[in-house]
Amino acid sequence: MTTRWLGYRPIAKVFSNRFLLPQISRRIAPICQAWPCRNLASLNTPAADDSVEILGQRFPRDKNTNVTTTITAKTARLLHRQPNHPINILKRRIEAHFENYKVVDSMNPAVTTQQNFDSLLFTADHPGRAPTDTYYINSNTVLRTHTSAHQSEVLKTREAEGYLLTADVYRRDEIDVSHYPVFHQMEGLRTFDRKNLEAEAAVNVAGTSIKGAVLSETNPVQLAHTTREAELVDQHLRHSLEGMVRDLFREEKDLEIRWIEAYFPFTSPSWEMEVLYRGSWLELLGCGVIQQKIMDDANNADRVGWAFGLGLERIAMVMFDIPDIRLFWSSDERFLSQFSSGQIVKFQPFSKYPACYKDVSFWCNEGFHDNDFAEVVRDVAGDMAEDVKLIDKFEHPKTKRVSRCFRINYRSMDRTCTNEEVDKIQDEVRRVAATTLGVELR
Ligand code: DAH
Repeated sequence: MTTRWLGYRPIAKVFSNRFLLPQISRRIAPICQAWPCRNLASLNTPAADDSVEILGQRFPRDKNTNVTTTITAKTARLLHRQPNHPINILKRRIEAHFENYKVVDSMNPAVTTQQNFDSLLFTADHPGRAPTDTYYINSNTVLRTHTSAHQSEVLKTREAEGYLLTADVYRRDEIDVSHYPVFHQMEGLRTFDRKNLEAEAAVNVAGTSIKGAVLSETNPVQLAHTTREAELVDQHLRHSLEGMVRDLFREEKDLEIRWIEAYFPFTSPSWEMEVLYRGSWLELLGCGVIQQKIMDDANNADRVGWAFGLGLERIAMVMFDIPDIRLFWSSDERFLSQFSSGQIVKFQPFSKYPACYKDVSFWCNEGFHDNDFAEVVRDVAGDMAEDVKLIDKFEHPKTKRVSRCFRINYRSMDRTCTNEEVDKIQDEVRRVAATTLGVELR
């Protein structure tokens, strides 16, 4: 559930991000150059199939297609709409809290790059666009990487002052117990009549953790807003979110909340909210005052507003004590039967099956990205892969080639696997890595 790349600040502003300059150009270049997507497009795909099907709709493949059938198959699951599923229970809790907000939960996961990025003012070189991080259906269409992709579209309808939009979102990512290529987000958005803002947005912030002026050099009020406008919207936002989180975590008396300055291309000022949960700070959501250009472009020039986006799995994992993100996708009755509508209960773990570790080492060509290898593992091993870790990396002193060693932890959620069975999967991972990524096995 990385939200990191969305929080990437343009280089000119701040250098603190995980993306350094040379990496950015290398990561972005493939979008135009058909690398490495073309290779990965062949994963798990019948050679003759020149289109990608998403929920019955066909999209032509092209050189930038990197989505595989393992991933597209997930679009039909709709866990957030499955009654008695923890994701649905949590979704409904939040919907019950924001009772007057319109509920939107059946938007199509295939969106244009315009919707997912441009409409939200992502710059052309933003790392979030990189095919190492995003599933491209083709050059113009992606599996949405966040629920914000629908902001413009919903705003344009001008149907509701506030809405909550829940959906499955897709990101190419590492593999471990808290990352899965599909997860669920909820987006909340509220707008106000600019002429009537004092009355519509006024809240009493006494007794909350909303302190200090919104104005700061790194988290500025937009030029299009007066300081007072930004202050009112910002306070309404943070007040609303504190209320929601206190309601969600109602069992935790005196829940500590803090606001961390953040950056998103589509809001300013922007924040991340963290709560102190069982001794550690947990990042729950990103939010901010919507960039006025987005409002203007969406036929809402007369209004101002705020938006937030939260990852439902991350919250569900702590609220229900669910230790492994793959469990959400399980159809095992021992998991599903533990939950029922409206109830937040602690998950009772059933015994874990044994883990089986296998290492693979190879020489990498230039442009290799760890997420590409993760994708191969995901495609070959599916949910059998619990964790993939880079355990060694070195550069050959003479040839300057880089060798990487990954340790894959195979563990089934529902049975004990034989070593023989895992060996077969491992052989296939090696073969597919060599043929699709062009790495040289060692
Ligand atoms: N879309 C962001 C993400 O996926 C989360 C987010 C941040 C949504 C700020 C918003 C927002 O609407 O205002 O990380």
